[in-house]
Amino acid sequence: MPSSIPSSELTSLLITHVFGVLVLLGTVFYASAGAPESRKKVLMWSGIASLLVLLTGGRLWMVLKPTFVQQGWLVVKLVCWLGLSAFGGFAYRWRDRACLWLSLSLVLALVALVMVFVRPF
Ligand code: HEM
Repeated sequence: MPSSIPSSELTSLLITHVFGVLVLLGTVFYASAGAPESRKKVLMWSGIASLLVLLTGGRLWMVLKPTFVQQGWLVVKLVCWLGLSAFGGFAYRWRDRACLWLSLSLVLALVALVMVFVRPF
């Protein structure tokens, strides 16, 4: 993966990016089952993780852009990120549909993974 930044920065970006995704997914799961009083704290962490994923993803995009043949997969990842960022709030608001938000968040995470590793378009 040739790029214009040191490989240590690239590795840090990738680790932070994937860690942010893990935290984001965790907050959706917590939101689907946690007590309503936990809402403020969990959504705060969801927001922080969401921002982390977007910023590191954006930076990765910037530095690795010349190495990408196609970039449509990145747009799909952005849509997945949008969904994952929203489902924590949805899970507190519509608790009776928790199963739906959980399933959708897993599907979006899977789609984002397929996009980054397969890059179909
Ligand atoms: C929705 C959740 C997301 C998941 C599950 C996800 C997952 C991942 C994973 C696992 C990698 C590491 C791939 C590797 O180096 O082998 C990665 C890299 C990357 N992600 Fe994300 N990501 C997400 C959201 C985003 C967003 C929103 C953006 C853009 C703003 C983005 C842009 C990138 C870029 C540019 C790379 C580097 C690709 C490369 O290594 O060539 N990601 N992502």
